Amino acid sequence: MAEEVKAAPPATFKVTIDNITIDVKPGTSILNAARQIGGDVTPPAMCYYSKLEGSGGKCRTCLVEVAAGSTADPRPMPKLVASCRTNVMDGMIVKNMTSEKVPDARAGVVEFLLLNHPLDCPICDQAGECHLQDLGYDHGKAGTRYQFSRRTFAREDIGPYIQLHMTRCILCYRCTYVADQITDKRVHGIVDRGDHAAISTYISKAIDNDFSGNMIDVCPVGALTDKTFRFKNRVWFTKPVDAHRNCENPKCCGKATLWLRGDEVFRVTARKDEWGEVQSYDGKVGWICNTCRFDKKETKDWTIEGVTNISRHSVIGANKYKVLDVPGETVSKVMGGRAPKLLMDIHNVSGVNNPDIDLSDLQRPAHSGDFKKDPEPGLESKN
Ligand code: SF4
Ligand code: FES
Repeated sequence: MAEEVKAAPPATFKVTIDNITIDVKPGTSILNAARQIGGDVTPPAMCYYSKLEGSGGKCRTCLVEVAAGSTADPRPMPKLVASCRTNVMDGMIVKNMTSEKVPDARAGVVEFLLLNHPLDCPICDQAGECHLQDLGYDHGKAGTRYQFSRRTFAREDIGPYIQLHMTRCILCYRCTYVADQITDKRVHGIVDRGDHAAISTYISKAIDNDFSGNMIDVCPVGALTDKTFRFKNRVWFTKPVDAHRNCENPKCCGKATLWLRGDEVFRVTARKDEWGEVQSYDGKVGWICNTCRFDKKETKDWTIEGVTNISRHSVIGANKYKVLDVPGETVSKVMGGRAPKLLMDIHNVSGVNNPDIDLSDLQRPAHSGDFKKDPEPGLESKN
C-alpha cells in the first residue's frame, strides 16, 4: 500500500487579530504577532519581557479571546488565554479590542493587581512611567471592592543603588530573570509563597554586581527605583536625550538615555522601545553597566545624539516635542513697551530650593534637608 504523504506545514501562519490579518513565523506568540501589527491591537504586558527568557504567564494582563483556534480546528477556545504564552496557529482568529469579554477580564486583573499595591503615585518615583499606572487608567475601574488592609512588609536594604519597596511589587519576576540571565551571580529572588511571597536577598545580602541597575529598568512599577535619582525630580520635568560613550565593559552597550534638567544629568537609563523594553542594537540587547548608569552623571562623559523619541503614551512626552503657541507678552504691552522688572528672588522669600545644592551631584536620595536654606539640626545636607 502506498504511504500517505503528509503535507508540509506552511512556512508562515496566518493570524487575524482584531480583524487585521498578518503572516507570522510558526512559534510566534499571539502577543508578539499583535506587536508586529502595533497600536491598540497589542495587549498590555506587565510580566512578559521579550529579552528575558522564561518571562510571561504571571500577571494575566495580556488576556485575549481566541474566537477560532485554527483552520484545522476552528472551535473557539473556552477561556480567555494569556497572549504572551499562547502561540498562534494557522488560521487563528483573536479578539483583543474587539472582544466583549476582554475589557471586563482585564479590569478584574487590574483590580487584583491593585488589591495590595499602595496608591502612592504622588510620592512614588515611578509615577509618569509606571506601567501599572497606565494600565489602571486604560483598563481599570474607578473603585475597588476590597475592604481589608493592604499587605505590609519589613523594610529591606538591598544595596547602595537600588531601593526596594516590596509593597509596590506585583511579583512579575522580571528582576529575578535579569539577575539570573545577565549578572554574574544572583543573590535575590522570590521567597515564601502565596500572600507572603516577596522579593528578598538571601539572606539579607546587598545586591552588588556590574549590571544590577538593569533590574530598575525592567521593573514595571515603583518597586525597584534608582537611589541616586529618588526624590530629586519628577520624571516629566526632565528632558530625555539619547547619548552614548565608549564603555570599557564589553557587556555594556554604552547607549543610554540621559534625563536632563538644564545641563544637569539627573538620571541615566537604558534606552527603551515602544513597549517599554530595553532596545536591541546589532542583535544584542542594550543593557548598560552600573558605571554608565550611576557614575557618569555629567554631560561631558557622553556624546549626545538628540532628543529621545518617547513613543509610549506618557506624560514624559507632554509639551516637549511640539512647537508651543506661546501667548503674547501682555505686561510689556500695558507698560508701554517696557519690560517688567523682576520683583523678587524666590530664594529670598522661600525656604525651599536651596541654590547651593546641586541635586544631580548627590549620590543618594534627596531629602527635605537638601531643599531648605536653614535646615533643622540633623537634616543638613551631606553632599
Ligand atoms: S520588584 Fe519589580 S521587577 Fe521585581 S518582581 Fe517585583 S514588580 Fe517585578
Ligand atoms: S504579560 Fe502575559 S501574563 Fe503577564
